[in-house]
Amino acid sequence: MNSWQNVKVLVTGGASFIGSHLVDALVEKGAHVSVVDDLSSGKIENIKEHLDAKRIVFTKADLRDSDVARDSIKDMTVVFHLAADHGGRGYVDRHQAACATNLLLDGLVFKACHEFGVEKVVYASSGCVYPNYLQTDPKEVVYLTEDKVKSPYDADNMYGWAKLMAELTLKAYHDEYGMQSASCRYFTVYGERGVENHAVIAMIARAFLKQDPFVVWGTGEQVRNWTYVGDIVRGTIAAAEHIHDGTAINLGTMERIRVIDAVKEILRYTGHEAKIELHPEMPTGPYNRVADNSLAKKLMNWEPQVKFIDGLHRTIDWYFSTKDREHTREIFEHMLTER
Ligand SMILES: NC(=O)c1ccc[n+]([C@@H]2O[C@H](COP(=O)([O-])OP(=O)(O)OC[C@H]3O[C@@H](n4cnc5c(N)ncnc54)[C@H](O)[C@@H]3O)[C@@H](O)[C@H]2O)c1
Repeated sequence: MNSWQNVKVLVTGGASFIGSHLVDALVEKGAHVSVVDDLSSGKIENIKEHLDAKRIVFTKADLRDSDVARDSIKDMTVVFHLAADHGGRGYVDRHQAACATNLLLDGLVFKACHEFGVEKVVYASSGCVYPNYLQTDPKEVVYLTEDKVKSPYDADNMYGWAKLMAELTLKAYHDEYGMQSASCRYFTVYGERGVENHAVIAMIARAFLKQDPFVVWGTGEQVRNWTYVGDIVRGTIAAAEHIHDGTAINLGTMERIRVIDAVKEILRYTGHEAKIELHPEMPTGPYNRVADNSLAKKLMNWEPQVKFIDGLHRTIDWYFSTKDREHTREIFEHMLTER
């Protein structure tokens, strides 16, 4: 893929947080973008500007219907598959059966891509494919290299198992049928249009609501490498351009940020003084999850450009300038475990 000009591209789940940013970037590059999304968690306002300007084609439909999957994919050159039953930590811990439907969704999408000879499939995978047993000690300095996803597998919830099965399916389609693909393992993405079921936006929302005591799930010691959405989008497009053989690559920063430090910075930046209250009994996820991103650098010259502190400030500014307190108060508790 040397030029995106007039290339027919489908973004499944394109009304989502990440999907809509990907749509923005592909439209900017001159691609003919179609979006299929059932709006189960995606929002039409995320892509409204493009719809109003008739720059993209949108279909509201459920890709777990094989006719929908086939009709959506049959004329496409490149498919970015982001549609998923997915939410934040509270959701993926508590909704195993719902996340298991991704096995069906991904299977149908990939089968249709093969049937209609799609030239490139790029899959939104996740850090949740990494074995839980490698991520338990926050004091240990571990960077997850791609080769650590191997037997004995130990993915994070049904959500993580489905992501892993999709990666392995794409690899098999490449090896047996020659279908070209790449899997991008996104690590905890944040930024504008993010929603409250993910930690960074949840913490910002708590500050926005002036919550006191300020609730933090877990001990606060858990380490993450939150990655800015613009970097994720650049990496996803780079994967379409550079990776052909179903290789899975990490898209994540190598910054090791403790939740408690992110909380303190959010309180400082927003000027909210509150007592911090830790809730280790609530869904927390692994205690130590940080990517190694050297493979992405080597294979596609990708490196994250936005430091967490800068991306965090940008995201807080966006949240505070666009949200309505009454609305956030209404949806907040529900969003912590739902989508
Ligand atoms: N946000 C993160 O930190 C993160 C991390 C790793 C991977 N991912 C993956 O990135 C992708 C996008 O996630 P996101 O955080 O932007 O938001 P998201 O979870 O809202 O995105 C999923 C999108 O798919 C749509 N969708 C779900 N089921 C569908 C179906 N059956 N048919 C059609 N559309 C359907 C939803 O309406 C939504 O727009 C997902 O695949 C997610 O698993 C996200």
